[in-house]
Amino acid sequence: MSKNLKIPQHIAFIMDGNGRWAQKRGLPRNAGHQRGIKALEKTVDACCKYGIKYVTFYAFSTENWKREKQEIDGIFSLIRDYLNDNPDYFSSKGICVKHIGDLKPFPEDLTSQLIKTEKSTAKNNKIVLTLALNYGGRDEIVRTFNKLLNKKKKVVNYEDISSSLDTHFLPDPDFVIRTSGEKRLSNFMMLQLSYSELYFPKVLWPDFDEKQLVKAIKIYSKRDRRFGGVK
Ligand code: FPP
Repeated sequence: MSKNLKIPQHIAFIMDGNGRWAQKRGLPRNAGHQRGIKALEKTVDACCKYGIKYVTFYAFSTENWKREKQEIDGIFSLIRDYLNDNPDYFSSKGICVKHIGDLKPFPEDLTSQLIKTEKSTAKNNKIVLTLALNYGGRDEIVRTFNKLLNKKKKVVNYEDISSSLDTHFLPDPDFVIRTSGEKRLSNFMMLQLSYSELYFPKVLWPDFDEKQLVKAIKIYSKRDRRFGGVK
């Protein structure tokens, strides 16, 4: 990859198109999610290779509870197994695993596996891999306001809000990639994406790979980020 490329510090992925990928092949939707995990793994490897420091994946939204129970249970099993199956994988690659979202409604086995993985990878410092789980931007804002009210705050500034958001440990995403050609944000990090660059490639998430990532970074490099200022 050319030395002139700008590497985003934080990329956030909306992994869309798993269902359509499976449907096109006459497979159940969960087969698409299974391939989606493979794409996630490949993408994390590629992000490490290109020096991206933070990568966030929208894995289960507060709205995804509207899906069939079988699909939801399938996604939960895939996430739990991904975290459980290779205990040394994350540390061997220097990956620090974190989550955003409200874990309360999740099955106990998934939550405890996630907490275990977070603890065992906490000191890794090559890349921070954040999973958005039962995450919704509006839900996060409501929980944040309640945290501030509990602290008896009467007046707040943006720093008070951002340091109480689920994402308090993350810089705002520089770049958001939503696959499958859908052009919307679907309640993902509504405050944090205020100045992010957006990219909506047509590729379905299970087909996303290093080549697609490089193409995306080339597109990001051409964007002129001014944050409301002038050039
Ligand atoms: C969107 O595609 C995908 C999801 C809602 C679930 C994504 C979850 C995974 C890939 C598993 C995550 C695993 C880990 C370890 C984080 P869709 O089902 O809405 O696709 P469609 O729009 O084509 O139906």
